[in-house]
Amino acid sequence: MNRRFIFFTIFIITVALGGLMSIQIYWIRNASSVKESNFRRSVNEAITKVVQKIELLEKRRTIEKSRPDGLLNINPHLSYDEFLNKAILDSIISRELNIRGIDTRFEFGIYKPENGAYLIEKSPNYRKDLFENAYAFPLFQSDIFTPPEYLLIAFPNEKRFLLTELWGMLLISLVLIIVIVYSFTYTISTIFRQKRLSEMKNDFINNMTHEFKTPIATISLACEALSDKDIRKSSEFYSTYINMVKEENSRLAGMAEKILQTAVLDSGQLKMKRELINIHDIIHDVVKNIRIQVEIKDGVIIKSFYASNPKIEGDKVHLTNLVYNLLDNANKYSPKKPMIRISTENSGNGLLLTIEDNGIGISKAEQKKIFDKLYRVPTGNIHQVRGFGLGLSYVKAIVGEHNGKISLESEVNKGSKFKVFLPFIYIE
Ligand SMILES: Nc1ncnc2c1ncn2[C@@H]1O[C@H](COP(=O)(O)OP(=O)(O)O)[C@@H](O)[C@H]1O
Ligand SMILES: [Mg+2]
Repeated sequence: MNRRFIFFTIFIITVALGGLMSIQIYWIRNASSVKESNFRRSVNEAITKVVQKIELLEKRRTIEKSRPDGLLNINPHLSYDEFLNKAILDSIISRELNIRGIDTRFEFGIYKPENGAYLIEKSPNYRKDLFENAYAFPLFQSDIFTPPEYLLIAFPNEKRFLLTELWGMLLISLVLIIVIVYSFTYTISTIFRQKRLSEMKNDFINNMTHEFKTPIATISLACEALSDKDIRKSSEFYSTYINMVKEENSRLAGMAEKILQTAVLDSGQLKMKRELINIHDIIHDVVKNIRIQVEIKDGVIIKSFYASNPKIEGDKVHLTNLVYNLLDNANKYSPKKPMIRISTENSGNGLLLTIEDNGIGISKAEQKKIFDKLYRVPTGNIHQVRGFGLGLSYVKAIVGEHNGKISLESEVNKGSKFKVFLPFIYIE
């Protein structure tokens, strides 16, 4: 998959997701407005019923009081205290609302605009609310002698009540959207990780082929020369060519060893031999090996041994490789006159090893990645240094095996400083 295709896919999926989400929002809003109008309708029905009941109560009371006289009742209606009170009205309203599935708190009052007063009210605390948000229903409309009166009813938790009905739907949609977005980002990041990995593997194979080719070519040339019957062979000739073969062979063996080691690291079968070793001795040996390569570039290696107790428990071979890898990097990535400082000191319950160079340095973003297997800082044309990107992952694994810690301070074009802490005694 190439990059453009991946970005195109991301774009398409994002658009599709966006569309889906808008449709979802549209439907939820639709549903909520349907709910709202249903609610209004139910309230209307319920309160119309309530108004009828109030009027019926009044009529009954009038008949009781005035004995049937056969005349049409055109007098003003009775005063409310004669046939109604707060409790009765409350129970009538709540019954009618409950029948229609509305069970949220309500406030009511009978209001007379003429004198701006409430003739009956549930609780005086809600006057303002009633006035502003109420549903209003005229009472005794046929009574032409009395100025208009209204039954006001309000639902302080109306919004919340409507929302609770939609809550389930909202929640499920939200969860589904989160799941989709999460798996989408996860998939994309996996694709990118795989892509990077495959690029790194390619680089590794290219490098490896290149590294193996040179010694193989040299050895085959030497063999040809040795077996050539036309060349007169002195003992000097033999030793030169045999040495050449030996050297190239050991280079090959070294590289094969390096690659094998990482295979072992991967399989988790790294065997540590536990013995008491002197870090200073190890550093001495490694520096002796690497010094020539540094001096060719006019560089120096400075050893500063401050540790009064350089003896720790560990594996001699692996720790030698560790020091070698770090010093090798310090040299490889310092193109001009390497100034490499390697120092030790005792710290806490162990030993701190510091390797500092004045090389090309590592940017903050790369610092996290260089300990990954096969990872090499993409250098472009800045420098041409061969390597497999295995050294630091090996170093990190060895430090881990010894229960130690590794950290890095580095600035681009200034240099790098690797700090390795190794405890005197490690627990597996
Ligand atoms: N001392 C250093 N200075 C600058 N860059 C470094 C240093 N050590 C390591 N690096 C960077 O970290 C990468 C990984 O190092 P390593 O695992 O040893 O692989 P290799 O040396 O084979 O490339 C190197 O390719 C290099 O870019
Ligand atoms: Mg290296």
